[in-house]
Amino acid sequence: MLSKKLAQELNSQLNFELYSAYIYYAMAAALEAMNAPGAANWMKVQAQEELTHADKFFSFINERDGRVILEAVEKPQKEWKAIIDVFTTAYKHEQLVTGRINCLVELAMEEKDYAANQFLQWFVAEQIEEESSVKVVIDQLKLADKAPGAMFMIDRELGQRVFVPPTGASST
Ligand code: FEO
Repeated sequence: MLSKKLAQELNSQLNFELYSAYIYYAMAAALEAMNAPGAANWMKVQAQEELTHADKFFSFINERDGRVILEAVEKPQKEWKAIIDVFTTAYKHEQLVTGRINCLVELAMEEKDYAANQFLQWFVAEQIEEESSVKVVIDQLKLADKAPGAMFMIDRELGQRVFVPPTGASST
């Protein structure tokens, strides 16, 4: 069974994953308004991934006899000046998530909760991918800044991203 403290913190992360989905949907909406449908698609896929992350926390808390408590989801930012600003915010957000996951791992280790630690290791690996995939887009956008017409190509490429459900059971 989860300790009260760990259950609280896992619930808080469940909420943060839902907030992450919400912020990426807000980014998708802003990108649509900027006439960047491919980038909007990329963000919508990102939002879908976040929902699967939230679901993993939901399942794990239940499997460990904890109680899932859903709290209000914070209102996300709605306006950005440029496409690159949207992705820069996404990158900073992912760095924040990585920090939160690391804190959860520290807590699980402190409590010698090996199952929670193992569960969280999936997220440790996932965060490397999460940060890297946004950084790749930022680098492309920086290059496009110096090459007229390149933005059209990048947007078309971002439009190719499709949602792939994570492998493994819901909480593993
Ligand atoms: Fe669930 Fe993008 O971290």
